[in-house]
Amino acid sequence: MRRIAAILPMLLSLLPLLPGAARTQDLAGHGGPVRALAVLEAAPGAPPVLASAGFDHAIILWDPLGGRALEVRRWHGGAVNALLALPGGGLASAGEDGRIAFWPATGAQDAPAGVLEGHTAPVAGLALAGPDLLASAGWDATVRLWRAGAAVAVLEGHAGPVNAVTALSRPLAAPPAGPASDAPARVASAGHDGTLRLWEPGGGGWEGRVLLESGTPQIALLALPDGVLAAAGADGAVRLIAPDGSVRVLDAGTRPVVALAAAPDGGLLAAAGLGGNVTLWSLPEARLRHTLQGPGQPFWSIAFHPDGRSLWTGGQDRRVRRWEVATGAPLGPLAAGGAETEAGPAAAAAAAEPHGARVWRACAACHALSAAPGPPMAGPHLHGLFGRRMGALADYPYSPRLARGDITWTPETVADLFTRGPDVVVPGTRMPVQTVGEPADLAALLRFLELATR
Ligand code: HEC
Repeated sequence: MRRIAAILPMLLSLLPLLPGAARTQDLAGHGGPVRALAVLEAAPGAPPVLASAGFDHAIILWDPLGGRALEVRRWHGGAVNALLALPGGGLASAGEDGRIAFWPATGAQDAPAGVLEGHTAPVAGLALAGPDLLASAGWDATVRLWRAGAAVAVLEGHAGPVNAVTALSRPLAAPPAGPASDAPARVASAGHDGTLRLWEPGGGGWEGRVLLESGTPQIALLALPDGVLAAAGADGAVRLIAPDGSVRVLDAGTRPVVALAAAPDGGLLAAAGLGGNVTLWSLPEARLRHTLQGPGQPFWSIAFHPDGRSLWTGGQDRRVRRWEVATGAPLGPLAAGGAETEAGPAAAAAAAEPHGARVWRACAACHALSAAPGPPMAGPHLHGLFGRRMGALADYPYSPRLARGDITWTPETVADLFTRGPDVVVPGTRMPVQTVGEPADLAALLRFLELATR
């Protein structure tokens, strides 16, 4: 024990020497596990924007390389289970509340641009099955297809919750498909009943059949560019179903597997599990490349960087982490940056109140401490916080609840905000659910804020 205590500071002192350590790569902002991730479509050459969704009901848009949250969107009435990047930079989200929402590319949003309602239980998966055809997987045992804001088909057959959907660009071989040229996309679904089902347009509407009976609940499903379908679930096996119907089984070494992702060029497959690691295979040969070792907590979601050289994971620890694909190593220190990297009063406050500065790391992705112009951030700057009325900054688009301004921020009211939680103190706020549990942490945070926001 004493040996470890002696070695730890030495290891920590080496951290700044590691490649990438200067930049924050972990994104802390969610108040609960990060259930879904999606990289938004960006203009060529523009930096990627990453969307994350959580059990905390929030969707956060990130500048993931800058370590900053750009926007928080809180609208779903429960956990946000699935995200889907749409052509043109938009985003679709689906939630525990049974609703599907459409979000435009940018602009602080308190309400979505469109909503699809019909599922009578949580929606767990989304896929784009054509330019204007959306497929959703519901725990109400249905797959639903939507076009122009309305349901066009309710596909029934699964004997229990449907956990995932994907669209197949190429028809599977058996039984022989019709003319391939103008054939609309086919949709595959994965069920808790252990089956994978294939849905295709037939004479009297969409028809379904069982593609695979796995005997274990299926949770994640992904169509790979070469027509192979990847499916995984409770037993930790990743099944690759080839267009000719043959099945190859890979062992993810973690169970259950809850998320699958492929690199944009289709050359890599990643599987994330609640067992706390991510397994990477190179395709098409399905050779094991790496096992990413996380912080010992479940992973819930994965997304590849558009260049395919790194990937992000979302986990139980409420963080989004970035990993290098070539080495399987985490990029940067496994802690979010904070006031230590800022200049002026924030740096001085961090030196005087290091404990508080560490607690502040949970806030740093969304709030600047100074009023100086800087890159866009999801939350208002907190300069001059104590004595400031809630919702008082003229150039920040507050939610209607904060704009009411009926609280004055003092150490006592901020303490209340993070003891009972923003969702209790100011219900309707956009700020994610979060509390600072330890009284000593809260006191340190308030001392730090007192110094750093002067
Ligand atoms: C994921 C982003 C995010 C995180 C993390 C976050 N906040 Fe916020 N915060 C916001 C947003 C967004 C608002 C504005 C909410 C609204 O308008 O409803 C806000 C508002 C506030 C306000 C009210 C400011 C005003 O002008 O009235 C305070 C105070 C605050 N946050 C403090 C904190 C502290 C302290 C932490 C860390 C314990 C923290 N926040 C963590 C996003 C975040």
